[in-house]
Amino acid sequence: MQFSTRVPAALEDNALARAVAARRAAKKTIYDLTLTNPTQAGLDYPTAEIAAALAEGAAAPYSPEPLGLLSARKAVAAYYPGCGLDAVDWTCLHLTASTSEAYSLLFKLLGEPGVEILAPRPSYPLIEHLAALDGWSARPYPLVPDHTGVWHLDQAALVAAITPATRAIAVIHPHNPTGWIANGADTHFLLDTCARHGLPLIADEVFLDYPAVGNKTCAESFASHKSSALTFTLGGLSKSCGLPQLKLAWIHTGGPAELVAEAQARLDFIADAYLSANTPVQAALPKLFECGKKIRGQIQRRLEENYAVLAGLTWPKGLAVMPREAGWSALLRRPAAPDEEKLALKLLERAGVLAHPGYFFDFPESGWHVISLLPEPKEFRVGVEGLREWLPKLV
Ligand SMILES: Cc1ncc(COP(=O)(O)O)c(C=O)c1O
Repeated sequence: MQFSTRVPAALEDNALARAVAARRAAKKTIYDLTLTNPTQAGLDYPTAEIAAALAEGAAAPYSPEPLGLLSARKAVAAYYPGCGLDAVDWTCLHLTASTSEAYSLLFKLLGEPGVEILAPRPSYPLIEHLAALDGWSARPYPLVPDHTGVWHLDQAALVAAITPATRAIAVIHPHNPTGWIANGADTHFLLDTCARHGLPLIADEVFLDYPAVGNKTCAESFASHKSSALTFTLGGLSKSCGLPQLKLAWIHTGGPAELVAEAQARLDFIADAYLSANTPVQAALPKLFECGKKIRGQIQRRLEENYAVLAGLTWPKGLAVMPREAGWSALLRRPAAPDEEKLALKLLERAGVLAHPGYFFDFPESGWHVISLLPEPKEFRVGVEGLREWLPKLV
């Protein structure tokens, strides 16, 4: 029997995952600063409203539609202005089951096995795995922090990373986990670079609704730019509404009309082969976006509250909380550790704190911790106080 070499035999099994499992089995407390599942973060979900909307949606007849149901696409288009973002054209939307699946459809659309996507580094480990499953590889381009801890796109390095095998450039906007957001100059640079090289841009905007208070920059979606590059903008319920379990996301296709028309026709073919967005959720979508507003508001308040706790603590010399621009995470700068996994294991063992060192997000150098701002505030406070007490002893 032969299996694909693109697929590992077992899910990643590492020492930290084993230590977490052992601690859970022994019923020992874990202050989990890696938690990013909103359904496990003690939020007050409007479950009766969600259930009623889904029950109504379940009665809708099945009418297969590769783009997604018209009413659902109109609901997605209406979500953008509802959040204070520019309107998007519903005729340019395709619905998918998740943003991850949307990437996969785009890999099928844009190239054959052996080609490359440029993706930011550091980053949440997703694109490289999705790319590999479609026979693509991901080539990194750097995001870099300045001396104040604000992150920037290294424009020259991005251009230098383009090779004859490059078939797309991915931008995560706002970026996970650094919170980087494209300023006007970055946006134009990305679109111009793509247009000049005949490459499509894939803008993953799942965190678009989560700018830090007072930071309006990321209210500009790539979907609302008149662009000379073919631009695919991805969004979904999983973050925007805190409803990952409902499996609904979308691709907006923008750019020059002829390219958009051809891309959409080909995307229709791929989407028609899967038809993966389910009917009840699509039919319920206008109401689910209403429920989502309530959940999103709670998430936004939670992120602000937890970040205020983190930034309000007095940190010992060598440890510093970075400014937050957007997203669900905060970054803690600390002295480099010779073995980052060992450090994470010791933190778990001594303080009961689970937190991701930078290597998990492919930071090019040691000396970073990524902290999720989503945990319940009580647990969050104990967890970050544990980091403050133990990190100086362990690095
Ligand atoms: C930047 C980014 N894009 C996409 C996803 C996956 O989103 P979805 O649940 O829609 O597949 C994640 C998951 O955390 C993410 O961090």
